[in-house]
Amino acid sequence: MKIAVVGAGYVGLVTGACLAAFGHRVRCVDNDPVKIAALKEVRIPIYEPGLSELVAQNMAEERLDFSTSLAWAVADAEAVFIAVGTPSRRGDGHADLSYVYQATRNVAEELIGYTVVVLKSTVPVGTGDEVERIIRDARPDLSFAVVSNPEFLREGAAIEDFKRPDRIVIGTEDEMAREVMAEVYRPLCLNQAPIMFTGRRTSELTKYAANAFLATKITFINEMADLCEKVGGDVQDVARGIGLDRRIGNKFLHAGPGFGGSCFPKDVTALIKTAQDHGANCRIAEAVASVNDQRKRAMAWKVVQACGGSVRGKTIALLGLTFKPNTDDMRDAPSIAIVTALQDAGAWVRAYDPAGMEQAQTVLQDVEYAEGPYEVANGADAVVIVTEWDMFRALDLDRLRRSMRSPIMVDLRNIYAGGEAEARGFLYTGIGRGMTGPGTTIQMQDALVAGT
Ligand code: UGA
Repeated sequence: MKIAVVGAGYVGLVTGACLAAFGHRVRCVDNDPVKIAALKEVRIPIYEPGLSELVAQNMAEERLDFSTSLAWAVADAEAVFIAVGTPSRRGDGHADLSYVYQATRNVAEELIGYTVVVLKSTVPVGTGDEVERIIRDARPDLSFAVVSNPEFLREGAAIEDFKRPDRIVIGTEDEMAREVMAEVYRPLCLNQAPIMFTGRRTSELTKYAANAFLATKITFINEMADLCEKVGGDVQDVARGIGLDRRIGNKFLHAGPGFGGSCFPKDVTALIKTAQDHGANCRIAEAVASVNDQRKRAMAWKVVQACGGSVRGKTIALLGLTFKPNTDDMRDAPSIAIVTALQDAGAWVRAYDPAGMEQAQTVLQDVEYAEGPYEVANGADAVVIVTEWDMFRALDLDRLRRSMRSPIMVDLRNIYAGGEAEARGFLYTGIGRGMTGPGTTIQMQDALVAGT
């Protein structure tokens, strides 16, 4: 098949490269000439494991190419995927659809013959209707269909998610478009990936509902973690205890510093706005957004407590800055709120991240960057694990502790068993482990009661 992908950002690049790997001829187009020039030389502007190799292989086999020319990409395409950004609109939290609508107008001018226009970008319910109206107004003569086909890719595992999806959701009422989309994903049908055909609005809403539900799971377990700290429970056991119930499932029950990234925070907010616009209630999503926002900053308070009530004049070493491992993405990362709150409390913040330090420099001020996990801890008063990169899971704890001024470890991802770090001489604080660690609330309360 001949496919065009409009927008060579994260979603567009992964989609284009994976569709080319299925055997389709894919042309990716972007209006940023610098980005396109880099892509033509297989320089990938984002950090995603395996993407560079996939792009290189499919370019070499002449199934994938890049250009700034929309006409070149779209003219003979049977399906045109729109994969431009939909950031949160400044001020009101609605998804900003200006890029989607502009791309639609541009695409409409270039279409020849029956074409399926596929909305891959995450767009609020009803956007497909508007996109259809724009094309119809521009080209009343043209035969076309607008389809919703949301992506469910996780950064850091996007290629795997694309090739082995839990499901593919396709929203269209157009019979011919169903056939075209079935052909696009035929290689996955052979792997028996479930394809769901729905109405277009249902498909648009499914994407938001999926992200809001996952964000809810995380927020729920984070609140259970806080409760564990108060009552003396262990959140990891609670998560396992509930997750083994197949009706609940064990995924997305890792307590941590709150969810971040380019999707969950923005999509939960956009879902709330959509509900408000339609006079419906989305109170659970509202609670999730507000609890998560407060949590990120509260993590800095946890560090302050672990440091004996004050971080003024102290050096705090952060291990990890990105919103999760295997990405360089800093968008809405919990580290941003944590760093700012620690600085407000008078701490000097030093940080190390295997991939995110360049991005971090654009959003964080007055942070000192180190070359590695041991260098960052050198002379520090506390080390804080913010992102669970694999390289932090097996640190030489003796070496780490020896280099520090005081052996305080705050592990916001629970990557170390409490006893393990304590056996190496650390004063350890995890998340939701009420029974372990000297920095936990329950032990502090006990100490206060005992008057110590
Ligand atoms: C998320 C969804 O998982 C994808 O299915 C979706 O396609 C994507 O958004 C999107 O809409 O484009 P992503 O933002 O890449 O993917 O990252 P996740 O792996 O879902 O993690 C999001 C945040 O939740 C991270 O900050 C992570 O640390 C946090 N998290 C995740 C937890 O705190 N606990 C968990 O158990 C899982």
